[in-house]
Amino acid sequence: MDLPPSAAPLQALPAGRLPATVLAAVREEPEGAEEISAYLYDPAVAARNATALRACLPSWARICYAVKANGFPPVLDALLRGAAVAGTGGGLPAAGADPTALVSRLGGVDGFEVSSVREMRLAREACGRVVPARSPYLVASGPAKSVTLLTALVESGVSMVNVESPVELRRLETVAARLGRRVAVTVRVNPARVALSGSLQMGGRPSAFGVPESEVPAVLGLARSLPHLDVAGLHVHAVSGNLDAAAHLDYVRWCLEFADRSAADAGIDLRVVDVGGGFGVPFEPDRRGERPFDLDRFGEGLARLPVPTDVEMLFEPGRLLVADCGWYAAEVIDVKRSYGTDFVVLRGGIHHFALPTSWEIVHNFAVVPRSAPAATSSPDRRPGEASTGGADGVAEGGVAEGWNIDTSGRPVTVVGELCTPEDTLARDITVGAVRPGDVIVFPMAGAYGYEFALADFLGHPRPHRIVLGERGS
Ligand SMILES: Cc1ncc(COP(=O)(O)O)c(C=O)c1O
Repeated sequence: MDLPPSAAPLQALPAGRLPATVLAAVREEPEGAEEISAYLYDPAVAARNATALRACLPSWARICYAVKANGFPPVLDALLRGAAVAGTGGGLPAAGADPTALVSRLGGVDGFEVSSVREMRLAREACGRVVPARSPYLVASGPAKSVTLLTALVESGVSMVNVESPVELRRLETVAARLGRRVAVTVRVNPARVALSGSLQMGGRPSAFGVPESEVPAVLGLARSLPHLDVAGLHVHAVSGNLDAAAHLDYVRWCLEFADRSAADAGIDLRVVDVGGGFGVPFEPDRRGERPFDLDRFGEGLARLPVPTDVEMLFEPGRLLVADCGWYAAEVIDVKRSYGTDFVVLRGGIHHFALPTSWEIVHNFAVVPRSAPAATSSPDRRPGEASTGGADGVAEGGVAEGWNIDTSGRPVTVVGELCTPEDTLARDITVGAVRPGDVIVFPMAGAYGYEFALADFLGHPRPHRIVLGERGS
């Protein structure tokens, strides 16, 4: 695991850039509360994102949100409901029309992409709560689908299985035959070349995902020969974090043409082209000048694609829909100066929030002050409480103590509570004053945050998950 890149000379975000609800949640401290270590979510943001995406896609597009990005039930519910939750109609196109009708027509996502029994259960439960009259549309992806997983998927009536290999095809055939079902499948393709850039590349290079392009005819032939499989089309998910709408459109066009050609050659009636997820969000607008993915431009281009009337295109977005609905907040437990470098030590770390290290993102944060001014704090004080202590960062005996170290204008390294130097969330970000008791808040933590962290090392409690405006976990 690499450390996050140095961010110098980046300044920390001003706390005023955080929404008032986030600031209030971080500043509130009920009597006897534990130190703050939490994901804060605004499901209405996710709902608006879902409706904005829906509004720009043509009618032949189906949105299956990738639950792996964030499976928190209030977020899943909001994504299904769409902007009706937000009550603003954000992203709705037509003026003057009945907003209720529009919301119900546009709604949120159509279903979910799931990779495990747990994700399937979360997705089904959300559908049961929000759209009980509609049967859940679930598409299953991911390598290493075991007999146990495939059995659970088929028993629950999964809508589509994106199959990754010939072994998986035969295994699914056996499972479907045993259960007396016929299962719709797509074959996942790893294209020989992917003209997209992003934070993670899963196609266009050797990978465990899908089958190489050159093997697609043979694998489709095998799939067709298996009586309990109904081959509906092809699946491609080749990249994550792409911000270039024109490049994404070229990629979708390629998927469509390739699927059309391959299906015709294999004598398959093409019904589904699943183009996966991969829409990026700007994590580093301040440092790299990243701009949001241009959904309008993408939608306009899509509408011009020659999609046959009986073909449906599936999108499996994850990050785009939920990245900005979450904030990771962790209390500063200590501040230390070590050989000239200032460390801010959190009640948290990479076991809660692995994003910056795993994708080498410079993930900027804001410092929310909660501590008393320097030279008046003590380890067990609460916000606003004064106590005694040394001045000028140096207490009695010449030792610099954390609540008096002056970090103002200095770059700090933000680390977690694990016993490994790899537990580093940010490097060389210049801050104002930071003291124990303050809270570091990372915005854009709604996707691949809680879910992506490897939680059990050292056994510290997991972070709470809080819906803004409500308390609890
Ligand atoms: C098969 C599949 N579909 C969709 C996604 C969602 O990708 P993103 O969050 O980049 O949109 C992933 C993410 O890994 C995936 O593996």
